[in-house]
Amino acid sequence: MLRVWVDGKSVGTLDRFKTRGSTFAYDPATAPGLAVSVTMPSRTASWDTINGLAPVFEMNLPEGVLRERLMRQFAKTLGSFDNFDLLSLVGETQIGRLRYSEFAEPLSEDVPFQSIEEILESKGTSELFDYLIEKFAIHSGLSGVQPKVMIRAEEESALRHSSSFKSATHIVKFWDPAEYPELAVNEFFCLEIAKRLKFAVPEFSLSESGHALVIKRFDLGTDGTYFGFEDFCVLNGLPASRKYDGGYETRLFGRTRQFIRAMDRPKALTDLFRLFVLNCAIRNGDAHLKNFGIIYSDVEGAAQLAPVYDLITTTAYIPADVMALTLEGSKKWPDRRALIRLGQTRADLGATMISRIFEETADVISDVSSEAGKHFKKKSKYPRIGERILAAWRLGVKESLGLGGPT
Ligand SMILES: Nc1ncnc2c1ncn2[C@@H]1O[C@H](COP(=O)(O)OP(=O)(O)O)[C@@H](O)[C@H]1O
Ligand SMILES: [Mg+2]
Repeated sequence: MLRVWVDGKSVGTLDRFKTRGSTFAYDPATAPGLAVSVTMPSRTASWDTINGLAPVFEMNLPEGVLRERLMRQFAKTLGSFDNFDLLSLVGETQIGRLRYSEFAEPLSEDVPFQSIEEILESKGTSELFDYLIEKFAIHSGLSGVQPKVMIRAEEESALRHSSSFKSATHIVKFWDPAEYPELAVNEFFCLEIAKRLKFAVPEFSLSESGHALVIKRFDLGTDGTYFGFEDFCVLNGLPASRKYDGGYETRLFGRTRQFIRAMDRPKALTDLFRLFVLNCAIRNGDAHLKNFGIIYSDVEGAAQLAPVYDLITTTAYIPADVMALTLEGSKKWPDRRALIRLGQTRADLGATMISRIFEETADVISDVSSEAGKHFKKKSKYPRIGERILAAWRLGVKESLGLGGPT
């Protein structure tokens, strides 16, 4: 049985249920402000899930390499290994404001320090990754398939001297040259475009060698607390395995309307549409439900769209890649007319505003293309990937935004 904590306060217990499920019960009289999710208000009856964990508890479980690594390391001691076991391993360090401990144990979030500079300057990638995963896997309660860990930055001196702040501050993402060469540079330039388009983007730095991307957590408060974060799998009541399921209209725009209050809704819908346009332009075929989220400081108060993360030009690796979810029933990349329809019907935008969004997006992509081109020529061992990324952007801008010259 696990104890569930919100903002450092015990709020309930999570246990296995029947053969494959789990059950969560709030402690009696848990204040509504300590609810574990905007989708699970505090109540007397338990929240039962027949299969696996409720989406909010499953949200930060490692996938991919990190999951395999933890399984290999701990399956021996535990015998079998399921999501419940994984949560008990990484439950003390999680994205967002929920934490988990063994039932009778206190919560102790003590993540070791790590110098960011050391990561940014390091040359030997696989040794660095092995070292970091050894040290931080157990502290890395975050989802995603790409190799990554969460660290606590030595350089954050303000946080370092705070007695309440003992948890992770940054995410470090790596790539496997056999699978996705230059993934960190790819993400770096995609995030750079988003930053110049004035999206909220967390601080990010690329290592000298281009092998690692270090990203500051956007759910970090200033006083040792973390903001609430919930991804769109949770908002749709779906397990992580269904992150590619459904259409953007309802799963993303509909839920944004539902969970963002009227006052903040126009900006949220506009930003979401701008992000959608950007994803089409850079040919990001991995814009699934776990790559969007909301963030809040009060579970009962106003939520905002979370800052932008995980932007990648996937067609540089999979030329025929299509969208992660459907638009108008299809996963094919939309043309300009379909994007205009989306902006008008789902984000309440006028034609002039939509045209302006297309133009701004194309202009910034064109600026960043020149810089990315220079980087790939001068610094990359995989210049062909660079060429493919730039070609994908030209194609995206032309076919989906209806702008730019011949490709
Ligand atoms: N800057 C950030 N601050 C807080 N949480 C983040 C941040 N970036 C990503 N996350 C969380 O970590 C998860 C994994 O990160 P992501 O960049 O999507 O990795 P992957 O490329 O493996 O999918 C995201 O789904 C999100 O929940
Ligand atoms: Mg992701």
